[in-house]
Parts: sequence; C-alpha cells; structure tokens
Amino acid sequence: MLKGKTVLLGVTGSIAAYKTAYLASALKKLNADVHVLMTRNATNFINPITFETLTGNKCLVDTFDRNFEFSVEHVSLAKKADAVMIAPASANVIGKLAHGIADDMLTTTVMACTRCGKLIAPAMNTNMFENPVVQDNLEILRKYGYQVISPAVGYLACGDTGAGKMPEPELLLEYILQEIAFEKDMTGLKVLVTAGPTQEAIDPVRYITNHSTGKMGYAIARISARRGADVTLVTGPSALKPPEFVNVIPVKSAKDMFDAVTGIAKEQDIIIKAAAVADYRPKHVSGEKMKKQDGALALEMERTDDILAYLGEHKSADQFLCGFAMETENLLENSRKKLAKKHLDMIVANSLRVEGAGFGGDTNVVTIITDREEVSLGKMSKEETASHLLDKILELRKEKA
Ligand code: CTP
Repeated sequence: MLKGKTVLLGVTGSIAAYKTAYLASALKKLNADVHVLMTRNATNFINPITFETLTGNKCLVDTFDRNFEFSVEHVSLAKKADAVMIAPASANVIGKLAHGIADDMLTTTVMACTRCGKLIAPAMNTNMFENPVVQDNLEILRKYGYQVISPAVGYLACGDTGAGKMPEPELLLEYILQEIAFEKDMTGLKVLVTAGPTQEAIDPVRYITNHSTGKMGYAIARISARRGADVTLVTGPSALKPPEFVNVIPVKSAKDMFDAVTGIAKEQDIIIKAAAVADYRPKHVSGEKMKKQDGALALEMERTDDILAYLGEHKSADQFLCGFAMETENLLENSRKKLAKKHLDMIVANSLRVEGAGFGGDTNVVTIITDREEVSLGKMSKEETASHLLDKILELRKEKA
C-alpha cells in the first residue's frame, strides 16, 4: 500500500519511543521507504540499531555524522519525504519546531519539510502536556500546517494517570495511511456506506441475525475516507474496530438502519449498501423472556422495509446508488434483476459458493454489474475489492455528469 512512498519518523526522548519500533516495522511491511531520525535523548530509550534493522536504512542522529553519503542529508531526505511523523514528540522538540529552532538532525530535517504532510504525536507527563506553553506551541504548529494527534488518556510511565500517552502504533499508522496511501480523488464527495448484519429481536434475550461480519463495508468506508471522501458508515452489530476518519452510526435492527440511512440519504453523493439486512423480523417481540413449552414453536414473521429499494425510488438524478447481492445460485441473473428492480446504478454480486468470497474472510470475489457491463474481479483482499469498486463508481459518475 505504501510502495514508492517515503516516510520519515522523528523519535524524541520519551519512554514511548519503543512503540515507534512497531510503527517503523508496520510501515516497512507495507513497502514504505522508512527513515528514522532520533534526537540524542531518544537514543537513551531505544538503540538506533533497532530502527536500522527494522527499516534497512541508517538511523540519523547527528547532523554532522561523516558517515552520511553527503553532508546535506537533512535536505535530501526532506525533499523526498511524502510524510513526516514525530512520534513520540517531547515538549522540548515541540517547542523547538514551533519557534524555528533547528539544532539537530531531527529538527533541521523537519524544518526543511515544507511540502509533505507533517504529523506530530505528543507524549509526555499530563502536567507537561497541559502546561499552557506546550498547548500554545501545539497551536502554533497547527497554524503552520502540522496535524497534531491527540495523546491517549491512561496510566503514564511516571505513575500519573491522564492525557499524555502516545497513541498505539496501529493508530499512528492509520494517520499515515490516511495522509499518503491514496490520491485524494474523492475529496468533496459525501459517501454513505452500510455494513454488517442486523439483529431482529424475538424477546429481550434472543434475536435473529445472519453471518455478515461487516468486513466488506468497513473496507469500503475506510478506503473512501483515505481517498478523501466525507464518509458515514451505518453499521449493524460487528466485532470489527470502527474505521478511523469515518463517522460511524451503530444500529441494531433493519428498522434502525432504515431510519439512520433514510435520515441522511438525501445529502449523499454516493450510497453503497453492503449490509446484510434482514428481510423478515418477528411480528411480535415479547417483552419478557419467552419460556419454553412442550412441543414446537412457530414464530410469525413480517417483512422489513427494503432500504435499498426505498433509496432507489427516492434518489436524485446525480446520486449514485450501489447495492450488493449475495447469492447461492443464479448469481448474475438474480443480481441483474435486483439492479433493475431497485433502480440501482451498480450492483456488486458475490456468491457464497465461490472459494475466497463470502462472509468473514479477508478476500472477496465479485462481479460488478451495471446496465451495460459486467466486470468480474478475481480473488483479492476486501480492501483491494473496495478500491476497484470505488474506481468504477468514480468512472461512472464522470460519464453521468
Ligand atoms: N437490502 C436492503 N434492505 C433490505 C434487504 C436488503 O437495503 N431489507 C439491500 C442489501 O443491503 C443489499 C441488497 O439489498 O445491498 C441485496 O440484498 P439481498 O439480501 O441479496 O437481496 P434481497 O433484495 O433481500 O433479495 P432476496 O432476499 O430475494 O435475495
């Protein structure tokens, strides 16, 4: 995902420095060219060799290190950087950067980074972090275009509890991916994605649901956000971590999803309905736990509203509507029928019978169907599938415009 991208990681003197090793490793696994710059104090917490081993690049500490290929290393690195993240950022380095002080390799390089995205993850004792001078310096950095990542709240190495913990490397990676993983070709677009199953209550204890995990819809929401869209994800109950940079609306039943979706549908440019919505729900929901009786139990079921069909009926001329079809037989024929019946611009067909497709897995095998073409994508990760779907949607929107 980060092939051809250069990421600079600035590490300063904070106990959280060890966590940056995980970040460097994760970036490298995504094929980024990672260069780590450390302050002298940071080398008291973690050895530069750790970063050199993980990144395959020399870890830079001293501006006048004669081992560098050439003496203006800080400028050449700054020029080729796509993003620079300072994590952990100490109060000292925050103060220096805010006031134009460049007296070591890290600060001189960051100062020379004028075009790439600059992210800063403060990590320090709560009292230091809350000190007005640090807050003022962070405000100055924001003014100069730095993105300040709020520290987490929790137990700190000094024994205090409060704000000041460096966020986990997984979250820092999300910020970097959001910044550089994709071209921002969806900026200005409002995208609504639905995902996951619904739960239809029988009584306060039981419900009817399906095997959907939400992975496909979450991937679409995440990639849309990384491409710059303003994304809302309406999700049925899912064990997945909510995607960052996405407005998440959790719901339970088909009725909840209908209300949440129709309430905001009008303002959306693109709606993608990946959720596996229940078609039926118990007609009567018992207020008390149902006690078992001798013999069989028959539940009377009633139809839920078809949200996608409703959206198809009410969509405006410039809104793009994409549905999903999960089938076990006659995949293409059934999907084409749904495309026409629900007035969709596109339907994504996937079969439970195909290896690598379906619920729960990390891959999918889908066919994109519109009223004039059918494009089969091979087996690929759900994130790659999401990317292809979005490419197609953008292409079709352009043609429509
Ligand atoms: N869908 C919906 N509301 C429902 C049922 C389905 O919005 N009450 C949407 C799904 O989110 C999906 C599409 O309709 O995008 C197709 O869902 P699917 O269950 O495959 O098809 P159905 O239309 O329910 O038809 P059938 O059950 O006959 O296959």
